[in-house]
Amino acid sequence: MIRLVRMDEAEYQAYLEKSIPAYAADKLQAGNWTADEALERAQLEYGHFLPQGVDTPGHFVGKLLNEVGEVVGYLWYAGLDNNPGTAFIFDFEIYETFRRRGYASEALAVLVDEARGQGYKRLALHVFGANTAARMLYKKNGFIETNVQMARDI
Ligand SMILES: CC(C)(COP(=O)(O)OP(=O)(O)OC[C@H]1O[C@@H](n2cnc3c(N)ncnc32)[C@H](O)[C@@H]1OP(=O)(O)O)[C@@H](O)C(=O)NCCC(=O)NCCS
Repeated sequence: MIRLVRMDEAEYQAYLEKSIPAYAADKLQAGNWTADEALERAQLEYGHFLPQGVDTPGHFVGKLLNEVGEVVGYLWYAGLDNNPGTAFIFDFEIYETFRRRGYASEALAVLVDEARGQGYKRLALHVFGANTAARMLYKKNGFIETNVQMARDI
C-alpha cells in the first residue's frame, strides 16, 4: 500500500526546483499566462501558499512511497481558508516509470482516509482540461466535475 510521508527540507527544495517551472509551463500552455511572466508568477504563487516552505501550517507536502519503499511520486494538499471542510489537492504526480500500476488511485484512497480523519468532508482539485490521464483517474475515483472553463482562439 502507498504511504504518504512529509518531505524533508532537501526533498522539498528538489521538489520546488522541478515543480515551479513545470507549473509555469502548464499555465503557459493553458493560455493563462504569457511566456515572459510565467516563471515569476509561478514562484509568487508557491511563495504565497507555502510561506514557511514544507513547514507551512495546514499544508502537507509529502512523498509517496510504494510497498518496497521506493519514492513513486508526491502529493501536496491543504485545507482552504475560504472553504472549511474541504481539503484541496495542490499538486500530485506519480513519476513516469511508476505509472499505470494503480499507485495514484491508492494514494487518493490513503488521502481520503487521512483527510477524513482530520475532519474534512470533501476533497477538491483543479485539473487542466487537456490532462486526459488525470481526468480519467479522478473520474474513476469518484470525483465529479464542479466547474468547466472553456476558451477559443479568435
Ligand atoms: C495522472 C497520474 C497521477 C495517474 O497516475 P497513475 O499511477 O498512472 O494512475 P493509476 O495507475 O492509479 O490509474 C488509475 C486510472 O486512471 C486512468 N488513467 C491513468 N493514466 C491514464 C492515461 N495515461 N490515459 C488514460 N487514462 C489514464 C485510468 O482510468 C486508470 O485505470 P486503469 O489503469 O485501470 O485503466 C499520472 O499520470 C501523473 O502523475 N501525471 C502527471 C501529473 C499529473 O497530471 N498530475 C495530476 C494533476 S491534477
